[in-house]
Amino acid sequence: MRLSLVLLAFAALALAQSPARAEDAAIARVASPDGRNVVELSLNGEGRLAYRVARDGKPLVADSRLGFILRNGRQLLRNLKLESQSSRASDSTWEQPWGERRFVRDHYNELRATFVETDHDHRRFDVVFRAFDDGIGFRYRFPRQPKLGLVEIADELTEFSIARPATAWWIPAFQWNREEYLYQRTPLEEVPTVQTPITLRTEDGTHLSIHEAALVDYAGMNLARTEGRTLRAALTPGDGAKVVRRTPFDTPWRTIQIADRAGGLVESDLILNLNEPNRLGDVGWFHPAKYVGIWWGMHLDVQSWATGPKHGATTENTRRMIDFAAAHGFRGVLVEGWNVGWDGDWFGNGWNFDFSKPTPDYDLPGLAAYAASKGVHLIGHDETGCAVSHFERQVPKAFALYQQLGIDAVKTGYVCDAGQIERQDSANGPVVREWHEGQWMARHHQYVVEQAAAHHIAVDAHEPIKDTGLRRTWPNFVSREGARGMEYNAWGAPPNPPEHEANLVFTRMLAGPMDFTPGVLSLTGRGGQEIQSTLAKQLALYVVIYSPIQMAADLPEHYAQHMDAFRFIEDVPTDWETSRMLNGEVGDYATIARKQRGGQDWYLGSVTDEQPRTLVVKLDFLDPGRKYEAQVYRDGDGADWHGDARFRFARETRAVTAADSLTLKLAPGGGEAIRFKALPD
Ligand code: NOJ
Ligand code: CA
Repeated sequence: MRLSLVLLAFAALALAQSPARAEDAAIARVASPDGRNVVELSLNGEGRLAYRVARDGKPLVADSRLGFILRNGRQLLRNLKLESQSSRASDSTWEQPWGERRFVRDHYNELRATFVETDHDHRRFDVVFRAFDDGIGFRYRFPRQPKLGLVEIADELTEFSIARPATAWWIPAFQWNREEYLYQRTPLEEVPTVQTPITLRTEDGTHLSIHEAALVDYAGMNLARTEGRTLRAALTPGDGAKVVRRTPFDTPWRTIQIADRAGGLVESDLILNLNEPNRLGDVGWFHPAKYVGIWWGMHLDVQSWATGPKHGATTENTRRMIDFAAAHGFRGVLVEGWNVGWDGDWFGNGWNFDFSKPTPDYDLPGLAAYAASKGVHLIGHDETGCAVSHFERQVPKAFALYQQLGIDAVKTGYVCDAGQIERQDSANGPVVREWHEGQWMARHHQYVVEQAAAHHIAVDAHEPIKDTGLRRTWPNFVSREGARGMEYNAWGAPPNPPEHEANLVFTRMLAGPMDFTPGVLSLTGRGGQEIQSTLAKQLALYVVIYSPIQMAADLPEHYAQHMDAFRFIEDVPTDWETSRMLNGEVGDYATIARKQRGGQDWYLGSVTDEQPRTLVVKLDFLDPGRKYEAQVYRDGDGADWHGDARFRFARETRAVTAADSLTLKLAPGGGEAIRFKALPD
């Protein structure tokens, strides 16, 4: 007994002397409700604050510093002392007006610690940590105080020092093409400066995603690797300091989602839980729905946004699209190129756009009335070409017009290179360049969403600021792009590879809904470029990629050639009672089952990368005791994402219950979609 104690003591000593830096003593601590995730705060000899995270007693995030470099004052990171701390526990459940699941449990333990400088101005700030079973979130709070009124943040020094070797999936930050890069997979030690969410898998299979929640009036956070496995916040630049705020204020939450398996990240609601509750009250005026539009034709270059012989947004074309929508149950019709300003070079040059004025060949009021007569709604399109102030000045008038016409959703767009947003604080004043994810654009999107809400309009932003869960607070911010979408399959060089969607599920989609615009059953882009997907995979995307608005992106004449597959697009809902991640690995494959909200049916989508896969799924998610007809849309024999084989497809039905299992056979680049139609008792 004695001997083993001595041995243990030796072992502990050996550990303490291992090359890892000795830890400073914990001065505050908070654990998740299940006790598995533990956060500790410490101060080093210089009075510098750090946090660390352990999972199951083992370090996951090593000591990572917290603090700021200011532009209008001394740095805020040394000579700190802990003044006070408090903790509390919270367990509540809230309801999403629409979403991946109806009820969301928000269960955490919170630690609030107040730090004050021991010298100079005795400035102070709090750090608030919330420990959840599915990860942690923390933010800084700057109270009102005599020596810190205006805060100009040059740099936030928040670190994420990952304690274990890991594989990382990421896209680069501060590059010209904004968020529209292919995901790369590298060892964590090779990560450059990247955007969030970044997904990590440590050697023992623990999955992490670092992101942020509630990005309000602050600059978006990117991550720069400083050394080894340490990532540091790299805030998006602004004109002057990266962030300018007055105390009191809170920063966005910095988040680390933690899961034992890849699917755990997808099922986590941590980002939403860290956002404020709905501020809009009853949002019953928004209807989750599918839409079609005058869109893919432009990306194929068979139509144009500009007026002239190829103009897509003509009265005649739009009437036909409204008829098609009405015939097949689509609520929305998106029309791009409807307004004045597209003629000439609009890329990064949106000063000619008029957001209330249709082109002469587009009868806006007549079409709105025609749509209404068929139970269809036009979806507005406001491409700004990045002349953002020019757009902002027109928003009140434009949104009032849309509301009057029954246009209750608007797709916005910010097409220009990164860092080229045009800000003009007064008409005829100087133009200043901003970044898509800087503080000024955070304010811009906020303004647009609030204006839209006042007119009962939903917003779907393309080339957006990244999603950080604000849809909880402003539910009308319903969807965004913010990654390579379907359009890259029209003209991308290269187009999206077969692994793209299996990457998105575990990276971009952790931020929130994406307007990916799936369903191109013709599987062919501009000039005959092959889309690297099978037919069944296009259907699976409606389940796998969540958005409360989902486009059926292809041309009606193409759907006419694939009516058997199109049935699934007609049937699939866009609002869910609950969602279950059945299996998946980052960048490899993903299978998700969702139960329709307001109905009894379940839907399943499964996608794979370039590898074929056989996946056995238990149907135990189905309601017990109920019988279903499984309508299976699968890859046909010999299907493959190359050549004609990408069209090989089969539809079949069988009777199933929750006691059954199904074997999914996914072709290379393929997928499978299933509707489980509940049968009457
Ligand atoms: C980029 C958007 O992602 C795309 O959907 C749109 O058609 C063009 N911009 C034009 O606004
Ligand atoms: Ca885009």
